Amino acid sequence: MTLIKSNGYNVTIEDNSLDSLSNFLEIKKYTSYFILSDQNIIKLCLPHLLIACPKLITAQIIKIKPGEKSKSLKFSTLIWQTLIDKNADKNTLLINFGGGVISDLGGFAAATFKRGIDFINIPTTLLAMADASLGGKTGINFNEFKNIIGTINQPKGVFINTKFLKTLSLRQLKNGLAEIYKIALVNSHPFWNELSSFSEKTSYIKLITKSIQIKNKIILKDPFDKGIRKSLNFGHTIGHAIESEFLNSEAPMLHGEAVLIGLLIESKISYQKQLISKPMLLEIYSVITSHFKLRSISEIPISSIINRIKNDKKASKNILLFSLINGIGSFKLDVIVSETQIQKAITYHNNLIK
Ligand SMILES: NC(=O)c1ccc[n+]([C@@H]2O[C@H](COP(=O)([O-])OP(=O)(O)OC[C@H]3O[C@@H](n4cnc5c(N)ncnc54)[C@H](O)[C@@H]3O)[C@@H](O)[C@H]2O)c1
Repeated sequence: MTLIKSNGYNVTIEDNSLDSLSNFLEIKKYTSYFILSDQNIIKLCLPHLLIACPKLITAQIIKIKPGEKSKSLKFSTLIWQTLIDKNADKNTLLINFGGGVISDLGGFAAATFKRGIDFINIPTTLLAMADASLGGKTGINFNEFKNIIGTINQPKGVFINTKFLKTLSLRQLKNGLAEIYKIALVNSHPFWNELSSFSEKTSYIKLITKSIQIKNKIILKDPFDKGIRKSLNFGHTIGHAIESEFLNSEAPMLHGEAVLIGLLIESKISYQKQLISKPMLLEIYSVITSHFKLRSISEIPISSIINRIKNDKKASKNILLFSLINGIGSFKLDVIVSETQIQKAITYHNNLIK
């Protein structure tokens, strides 16, 4: 077992047990337990959780539909209403059991119910294990804007068991890998080099541990996203705009899939800003396109992407601020980027990825 100390709580990483969770539940004397999950996870993973932690057999299950659309006010309301109906009190524990949708939504509902009840995250996707379960960013989408309503509120513990990855599809594994590539690209050149030669044989537990160690260092220094934590937004300004464009389409794009495109376009902007060299830009394109199949975004009007960026929570008074890379493994915060520069970078990308 690996234990990483974060902001007032521990992240434990295990490959075959949930002993740390059982110990946590023994020590803390909660009056009741609620498990927030979606129907896939309830079917595939919940039996393992209940066998590992018999204490949770009496927990109330709050079931939501899988997918990004559930990260909404409608489902927050469902959680609040269930907590009220089933007499949750201030000493209730909400257990977010699932991917990033579950931890973002459940963390938000827990932060706001009775002005805050305890919650823990038991991530079941690679993306949530390597990134979303850690750091206390919680929230929902609203009127098609990603994560526009939310809080920064830390869980009481994060319990990672890589056994849950066994039932995850290849598409979802790649979705999680996207955030791992981002963490490396922004913060660690040696980790980026390791990922450049990633193969199916690479151990996920090693990648998750490394990602969490890097992210943890950053969030400990800047828990409220005022300084260096913004570096982790690299790829997300463009990525969120693209993800939002596809949110209501027949084939929504996964978060990580949109972030990968964001990483490439924002790398091009970093090049335009003379923060990275041409060979570096080409290396980033080559590594990412050799490990991931990217969807074309050429059908989206560039003006529509730019409008969404203007409404992003990171934009202030129409000045578009980006966290960019300043070399591989290094970053530059709050770089002002013009609409023309964004347009140029998207056009460059669309010419390469048709
Ligand atoms: N708070 C943060 O710091 C942070 C960071 C990155 C991403 N996010 C958010 O995370 C969300 C994406 O999370 P995600 O990619 O985990 O998606 P997700 O939560 O929608 O899960 C993806 C799919 O996998 C299924 N699934 C989950 N675990 C499974 C398992 N073990 N076996 C089989 N199927 C399983 C789910 O039912 C769902 O259909 C986005 O909303 C994004 O904004 C948050």
